[in-house]
Amino acid sequence: MSLFSCEYDEALSLDEADPLSSLRDEFVIPLDQKGNEQAYFAGNSLGLMPKKTLQAMNASLRDWGAKGVQGHFDEDDPWYRYDETVSSLQTEMVGASVEEVGVMGSLTTNLHLLMASFYRPTERKNKILIEPHAFPSDRYAVASQVAWHGGNPDTDIIEIRAANPDHVTQEDLLYTLEEHGESISLALIGGLNYYTGQFHDIEEWASVFQRYEITVGLDLAHAVGNIPLSLHDTGIDFAAWCTYKYLNGGPGSISGYFVHQKHHQNVNLKRLAGWWGNNPETRFDMHGQERFSPRASADGWKVSNPSLFSMVPVKASLEMFNEIGIATLRERSLRLTAYFEEGIRSIDGVESITPRDPERRGCQISVRVKDSASALEHQLIKGGVVPDARDPDVLRFAPTPMYSRFTDIYRGIQALAKIVS
Ligand SMILES: Cc1ncc(COP(=O)(O)O)c(C=O)c1O
Repeated sequence: MSLFSCEYDEALSLDEADPLSSLRDEFVIPLDQKGNEQAYFAGNSLGLMPKKTLQAMNASLRDWGAKGVQGHFDEDDPWYRYDETVSSLQTEMVGASVEEVGVMGSLTTNLHLLMASFYRPTERKNKILIEPHAFPSDRYAVASQVAWHGGNPDTDIIEIRAANPDHVTQEDLLYTLEEHGESISLALIGGLNYYTGQFHDIEEWASVFQRYEITVGLDLAHAVGNIPLSLHDTGIDFAAWCTYKYLNGGPGSISGYFVHQKHHQNVNLKRLAGWWGNNPETRFDMHGQERFSPRASADGWKVSNPSLFSMVPVKASLEMFNEIGIATLRERSLRLTAYFEEGIRSIDGVESITPRDPERRGCQISVRVKDSASALEHQLIKGGVVPDARDPDVLRFAPTPMYSRFTDIYRGIQALAKIVS
C-alpha cells in the first residue's frame, strides 16, 4: 500500500500523531509571498534559525559589552574554552570522544589544514581518490593539494569509476582500487553525497581503504546532524563538516572536525600550526623562543582563536540536538523522508536518484526533473515551497526532522506535481 495519499487530512493526522511535530515551534520559519510559513526543504543548504539563537546571540553581545576582555576568563562559559564546550556537544552525533572532535574555521579551510597533515604523497603512493559528483570545493581543494606537492591534478586525482555515477557501489570502489589502489595515498570522500543524497557505507569503505593503506578523510557536510555516525569505530583518519546545514548554526558558521585518536600522540605529524593548537597552559608564552607544543588531541590542529559569535548559535542549536537525541531525530527523519519519497513516486515525469534503502540515505531526496531545475525552483519558491536546485536537472528536497511537517511534504508534492505535469 502506498504511504502517500493525496489527502491533506491524512498529512495533518500524521503531523498530529507525531511526537516531535511541535519541534517546529522552536524555529523561525520564513514566510512566503502570502504571509504564510514556507514549506522549507533547503535545510541541506542552510538550516533555519532556532528561536533560542536570537536570545543566545543577544546575551553574548551584552556579555562582550559588559565584560570586555574579562569575558575570556569568566567563571561560567569563559570564551577562552568556549570552543571546547561546543566540541563536546557534537561527540554523540558523530560517535567520537571529546578528544577527537574540534571546531574551528570553515569546512574547506579545515580540509586543507587536515590534508596538510594527512596527505603525504610519496613517489609510489601519491594520488587522491574522490567519488563521482564530488562537491566542487572538494575538487578544487584536492587539485590544489596535489599541485602544492608538485603533482599533476589531471593524472593524480582518481575518481571512483562507477557504472552509474548517481549510485556508487562497493564493486565500483573495489574495481577502481584494483586498478589504482597501490598508487593512492588519500581518499577524500563525501560521506553523504551532496548531489545524489547517497550515504556511503563508511565502515565498509574504511576497511577497504585500510587494506590498501590509504588514508581516509571525509567531508561530512551533509551527514552530520542528519544521520547518527560512529566515526571513532570506523577507524577513518579525519573528517570535517559545516554547521550551517542540518546543525542550524547560521550562514558560514564555524566548522566541526574529527581527528582519530590514533594520531593524537604523533607530534611528528607535519601540520600548519598556530597558538590555538598549542597546550593552553603555555599558549601565551610569546617571547619568540618557544617551540610549538601541540595538544595531544584533535585540538592540536587548531590554529587561531575562534569567533565567539560564530560559536554561540552553534552551541544553542547543538543543545537542542542533545536534548532530543540524534537517534530520536533520525526516527522522525525516516518517517518524513519515506513519506516524501512516496509522494515523488506518485508524480509522473520525475524520479528520485537517491537510494531507496533508508540505510543508504539521510533526509534528502534528489529528484531528477525534465525541465531546468532552477526554473522549477523559482516557480516553487513563488508558491512558498523551497527546494534547492542543482542544474541542469536535479532538485533537492530535505524534509528535516527538526522543522519539516507531513503537511509541508503534502504541499511540496502537490506544488511539484502541478508544475511538472
Ligand atoms: C559537501 C560540501 N562540501 C564543502 C562545502 C563548502 O563549505 P565551506 O564553504 O564552508 O568551505 C559545502 C558547502 O555547501 C558542501 O555542501
